Amino acid sequence: MLVICKKKYTLIAISSLLIAASCSSTKKLTDKKSSLQQTYKNIFLVGAALNTTQIEEKDAAADALVKQHFSVITPENIMKCEIIHPDWNRYDFMLADKIVAYGKKNNIAVVGHTLIWHSQLSPFVQKIQSKDSLQTFLNNHITTIASRYDGKIKGWDVVNEALEEDGTLRKSIFLSKLGEDYIVEAFRIAQKAAPNTELYYNDYNIEQPKKRAGAIELIKKIQAAGVRIDGVGIQGHWRSYRVPMKEIEESIKEFATLGIKVMFTELDLGVLPNPWDSDAADVNLKAEYNAKMNPYATGLPDSVAAAQAKSYGDLFTLFVKHKDKISRVTFWGVNDGQSWLNGWPIIGRTNYPLLFDRNFKYKPAFTTVIAAAK
Ligand code: XIL
Repeated sequence: MLVICKKKYTLIAISSLLIAASCSSTKKLTDKKSSLQQTYKNIFLVGAALNTTQIEEKDAAADALVKQHFSVITPENIMKCEIIHPDWNRYDFMLADKIVAYGKKNNIAVVGHTLIWHSQLSPFVQKIQSKDSLQTFLNNHITTIASRYDGKIKGWDVVNEALEEDGTLRKSIFLSKLGEDYIVEAFRIAQKAAPNTELYYNDYNIEQPKKRAGAIELIKKIQAAGVRIDGVGIQGHWRSYRVPMKEIEESIKEFATLGIKVMFTELDLGVLPNPWDSDAADVNLKAEYNAKMNPYATGLPDSVAAAQAKSYGDLFTLFVKHKDKISRVTFWGVNDGQSWLNGWPIIGRTNYPLLFDRNFKYKPAFTTVIAAAK
């Protein structure tokens, strides 16, 4: 018994030391001058996705940091169908109204995420059988939600993740029941309901050539139909040791030639291995936990934090170079502990993808992102 206890305490002591060591490479946020939004004021908007606790203003540390650093916020989940439209005839705007009021109160822009997406749909939508009913859903859902917030939010991710990796349309319930015109239709409905709100197409991996070509085709089709699309969102769930810089730069240029704004909407540079060696941020992918896939459970080694800082610095240097084409860069979360990448695609890992650590202190990557603006 005594031996077991000793072992346990030794382990606790070692892990505390490791965590302390990793914390020593982070700094307290006291300096107003190093505000992200201030530093990037004349370059592009810098944003973060907020979780439910943050939207309810129950996370004081996150709240202070959001107000200091971000000029735009996106709700991570609460404007998705399963929350905002739980039943055919029932909407729940409680949290959506809250984030819009929070933005107004603090002079922070809000981006709506997302109107039409195959994932996190309410069960009633998944059960819809007929084309007519799904068409009615599309119309009611977009009209009701987008009109409520028109003039109050900056933009909407009207359609999210409608493409497969090869650039063809995703085989979703919307494609199979409504046919390929559902995307143009969604934008047409949104344009009518929200004349004062920017309208975006948002997806992951659309920096990759084949999927990018699919996205360009889709955007051109919307434009050719005389329907408004204001911007494209490249999600940006990349691995910090493997950021596709060349493809990102090509995409910024190509999307900009369509006459629309380019945005990076869900940026996080994870440091962990991906089970499929892929950047596909498909929320439905899952893999089994094993310790090898969770190498930094006790703390982020300084060398990994430094490499991540270099990647973030290079990426923001590229963004700044193309600031005339980029309108916004949003991080998918506030601090490392709150990132969805701790639970996806493997549950129970410890990831470090953002600029702020688990104690809301800034990491080396924060410094390189600030430096890239200067
Ligand atoms: C994620 C959220 O971060 C998680 O909390 C949720 O469990 C699943 O969805 N692409 C998107 C986002 O467009 O909506 C996803 O957000 C991440 C991938």
